[in-house]
Amino acid sequence: MATRHSLPLLPILLGLCATPALAADIASGQRIAARWCAACHMISPGQTQSSPDAPSFASVAGRYEPRDLRLFLMAPYPRMPNMPLSQPEIADLVAYIRSLGPKRYEPEPLEKDEKLPEAKRG
Ligand code: HEC
Repeated sequence: MATRHSLPLLPILLGLCATPALAADIASGQRIAARWCAACHMISPGQTQSSPDAPSFASVAGRYEPRDLRLFLMAPYPRMPNMPLSQPEIADLVAYIRSLGPKRYEPEPLEKDEKLPEAKRG
């Protein structure tokens, strides 16, 4: 019974897994930032209110290498709430934050079996 019903779904499920989930997406990063970070950080130039303690993302972008940013977001941080971010969400956030910076960084070298998701985006 179960197999009969789930078999037709298989191609759809496989399709979902194969599609861009792995590609870092600046727009998605911006949505995540708006949802999780904007309460404290100035996440875009148009924002009018933020916590005075939390640096703007534009300034963050100028000071952090993407790799450091990613590591920072993977670890708990005392002055920020624990945020349930997945690896792809972190990649999107980093892509977004990086897009605000004064200069573009070269893609960092890949680690073993690590994919660099934003590589094919401009
Ligand atoms: C509850 C408020 C709050 C939220 C929500 C928050 N942050 Fe922060 N964040 C802070 C504060 C305050 C600091 C400065 C802490 C310090 O300097 O000790 C900070 C620091 C940082 C830094 C380091 C900046 C630096 O200059 O070293 C990064 C990167 C950062 N936040 C990213 C994020 C991201 C990405 C999100 C959303 C996923 C987020 N934060 C959500 C309050 C927050």
